[in-house]
Amino acid sequence: MSRIVVMPNSASHTDTSIATSAPNADVAIRGSRKACASKGKLRLGDNAAEVYCTNLVRSPATPAEVEMALAAGASCVNWAYPTTNQVSIRRVIASAGRYPHAKVIGMVDSPESLVAWIQELDQGPSNVGLRIDLDSGLGRTGVVPGEEALSLARAVQSIGRFEGWHIYDGHNKGTREVRAATVHRLASEVRKLQDGLEAEGIRGDVLAGGSYSFDLWPRDLVSFVSPGSFTYSSAQHETDLSDLGWKPAAFVLTTVVSRRAGTATLDAGSKAISPDKSLKERFLWPGDIVMMNEEHSVVEAGDLVLGDKVLLLPGHTCTAAYLYDQALVKTARGVWEVRPQLGGAR
Ligand SMILES: Cc1ncc(COP(=O)(O)O)c(C=O)c1O
Repeated sequence: MSRIVVMPNSASHTDTSIATSAPNADVAIRGSRKACASKGKLRLGDNAAEVYCTNLVRSPATPAEVEMALAAGASCVNWAYPTTNQVSIRRVIASAGRYPHAKVIGMVDSPESLVAWIQELDQGPSNVGLRIDLDSGLGRTGVVPGEEALSLARAVQSIGRFEGWHIYDGHNKGTREVRAATVHRLASEVRKLQDGLEAEGIRGDVLAGGSYSFDLWPRDLVSFVSPGSFTYSSAQHETDLSDLGWKPAAFVLTTVVSRRAGTATLDAGSKAISPDKSLKERFLWPGDIVMMNEEHSVVEAGDLVLGDKVLLLPGHTCTAAYLYDQALVKTARGVWEVRPQLGGAR
């Protein structure tokens, strides 16, 4: 039997509750379920451990993910994707209509996106609300905090659908101190908006953060946080969140198929781990990652021998996961199950 090696150290990895590793070296299933398919939204608890398991609500990115979250029994789904695309908006509103006991919350970040919602919401179900998406400096979606954001909030309030604010600071990386300083600055901008609206008698809550800031947002301001890839973890969770005792939970299983002086060739290339990061960041490796092609990775070998099976921890698990159509998952009951990977659906 060949051995399974977990990189870079195995001690903390063996008891994770969700993994895509083979349960023994005879079984060689590669796969990973999509972590970001359903961005978890968690009510803030008193400590990180509590946060991980309290009040999981969903904040998906595509209409298909909204439908999946509702079908899975979510009581509140935040569609964290402001858009002017009326076909997508119509689909999400229709899914809300099928689950009248769940709350479905969309996002707007411009008068145009609000008009798109208003046109589709005519006579729409009452369980649909809207948040104002704020640009945290990421520069992707969101309105810059300020007067424009306030007037958008007032307009949403005037149609009786205002739920509050959404702010995702996915670019907020670095040491804990650096991330905390960024959150501090952003939080004071959001607080100003909240106070401004409250003075006018308009109330809403705040949904903020991602994996690298979810425990830094002030609890008196933020009701919910949305770390999305927390379920499976990327290599970055292990390095940047090591103070939280993070345990990686998603791996790509690969085999050493060739060996030469100093290097080992693995049968996991860019079809197994997505090439959306720089070469050295695509998976965690204690030595050099020399080359990555479609079906191979060449790495500094250490003591690896031919036939070794290696559990790779992707640098970005979300984009690696949707390369697979199934995953081997260890359930909370400790049972291994092969499950379909649905996160690639749109
Ligand atoms: C709007 C939004 N919220 C939450 C997340 C989850 O963030 P993270 O992957 O840092 O946990 C993402 C990730 O892309 C996102 O786009």
